[in-house]
Amino acid sequence: MNRKLILTVLVIGIFAEMHTYANGEKANDTEVIAKIDQAIKNPLGHFQNNKEYEDFVEQLELIKILPAENADQKEKFYKNFQKYNNRRLELERNIECRAKELEKEIHTSAISVDCIRFYYNQKIKIEAALTDTNAQKERSLLENSEPCPASVVDVDESDSYYDSYYDDYDY
Ligand SMILES: *[C@@H]1O[C@H](CO)[C@@H](O)[C@H](O)[C@H]1NC(C)=O
Repeated sequence: MNRKLILTVLVIGIFAEMHTYANGEKANDTEVIAKIDQAIKNPLGHFQNNKEYEDFVEQLELIKILPAENADQKEKFYKNFQKYNNRRLELERNIECRAKELEKEIHTSAISVDCIRFYYNQKIKIEAALTDTNAQKERSLLENSEPCPASVVDVDESDSYYDSYYDDYDY
């Protein structure tokens, strides 16, 4: 199946589900289309190279051109997109905030080369999540929120450190 066909099947699936929950509200097709166009024309944040965002936009474009009697479903899909998009922008702000904190740690607060490396790796990983799915953004925020662990801070080259380290293994 080509990509367009897959998306069409997906959209029909979404519509079938939405019909189940139809609650009698009446949307104005012209107004829904205007809102969809507005959203597509004014993308915000790190939308470029974001596969999840691009899929939403493709689906919006397919839904937009369906007959006017589907206005209610168009409205619901648009609202679902807005919910996704607002969450995406919120997560992007949280990621940028954490990346700034990490930048500060790297340059002013990190107390060892190992901690600098620890925070630098977090920064690389969390910034890569800016164009990931929302679920992956959430995961990355959790995974890259840890302070430099004591085991890293305390690393020194004293004999006792190496002794205890090698004591854990049988050679
Ligand atoms: C839908 O909205 C447009 C633009 O606001 C308006 O001109 C039109 O009369 C509305 N149609 C209905 C059926 O309310």
